[in-house]
Amino acid sequence: MSHTPFAVAPEEAASIARDLEQGRTLPLSWYTDPAVTVAEIDRIYSHTWQYIGRAADVAAVGQFVTADVAGRPIVVVRDRDGSLNAFHNVCRHRGAKVVLEECGQRRTLQCHYHAWTYGLDGSLKGAPRSKSEVGFPQDDLGLRKASAQTWGPFLFANLDAAPEPLETQLADVPALTAGAGVDVDNLKFHFRVEYDLKCNWKVAIENYLECYHCPNAHPGFSHVLDTDMTSYQLVLEPTLAWQNGPLRQLSQGVAPEITGYTGRDGAVPEGRYFAVFPNMKVNINPGLPNLSIGPIVPMGPDNSHGFLDYYFGADVSQQWIDDMMVFDNEVGAEDTVLVESVQSGIRSGALEHGRIMLESEKLIAGYQRWLLDKLNTKDA
Ligand code: FES
Ligand SMILES: [Fe+2]
Repeated sequence: MSHTPFAVAPEEAASIARDLEQGRTLPLSWYTDPAVTVAEIDRIYSHTWQYIGRAADVAAVGQFVTADVAGRPIVVVRDRDGSLNAFHNVCRHRGAKVVLEECGQRRTLQCHYHAWTYGLDGSLKGAPRSKSEVGFPQDDLGLRKASAQTWGPFLFANLDAAPEPLETQLADVPALTAGAGVDVDNLKFHFRVEYDLKCNWKVAIENYLECYHCPNAHPGFSHVLDTDMTSYQLVLEPTLAWQNGPLRQLSQGVAPEITGYTGRDGAVPEGRYFAVFPNMKVNINPGLPNLSIGPIVPMGPDNSHGFLDYYFGADVSQQWIDDMMVFDNEVGAEDTVLVESVQSGIRSGALEHGRIMLESEKLIAGYQRWLLDKLNTKDA
């Protein structure tokens, strides 16, 4: 079986960009074609920062965290000199994953297969029987470098050895998080929620980028937050998009609910939802300090895997967390139905393009433009 690599030539990209300005979506074939997914992993996922876990897990010398970024294994480790190193978690011998555990602490990165031993700096320190090999090029067989950085308690990795700094991709997310009333340095990790979606990863992100569907598809969410067009704010930036949802005004004389999640009982006055391109969500719900963060990654054209790590302020009660999770899980379950139905519709081939509402879905248009630029072969 031979595959032609997916590429968007500059002229084609210019024509698609004009279509986008008119509200025509990217070609829907890009949501089902395996060659597009391969191109997205090569051109986008291999060069962007990905949230992988908790900075606290790589605080001490020898502590490591492993992750798969769109199927590409990576290991982040704290070196003896204090630096945070990242490597492709792929043995230079025959390609095994060097480290299999999700996290832990080790003196070396020794491969579990034939025990080639790498230092915390990635250099090959020794390979059994290598002395019997004539001209064994030990110095050339270090682990391939990747990158790691932290923001507050959050750990990020990048498969690229020399990427743009994390700060460029996050842009003003840290400032807007602080501005929302959440001090990330005072957050405590509670749990990770993993999920699978039977849809293309872009369908999941696009669903997250608009609240046009909220009044119709999320009655619970729209009861707490004001999802009307005039109140709910959509902001597009070069590397991300974010949404600000104020609490719905209570009508005069109506007492707020006293049971369950209300969002009205803390220092965080509004919901704030960030999509850092290409695939990272950061959610802040109103109420007490809370933040969830995580990626959605492609598992082929029709399937995605995501997770969210939930953090809460140190004083937030378990009851409040349970109540907020009921609210959050309801929204998540509603969204799953939406995105999976979109994938079935796209998969049918009945349409070549969708239609974007350029006001209410302007973040989708901006995001698709960002993707188009990344897939354009002009700088390949
Ligand atoms: S594959 Fe790692 S030591 Fe052989
Ligand atoms: Fe939704």
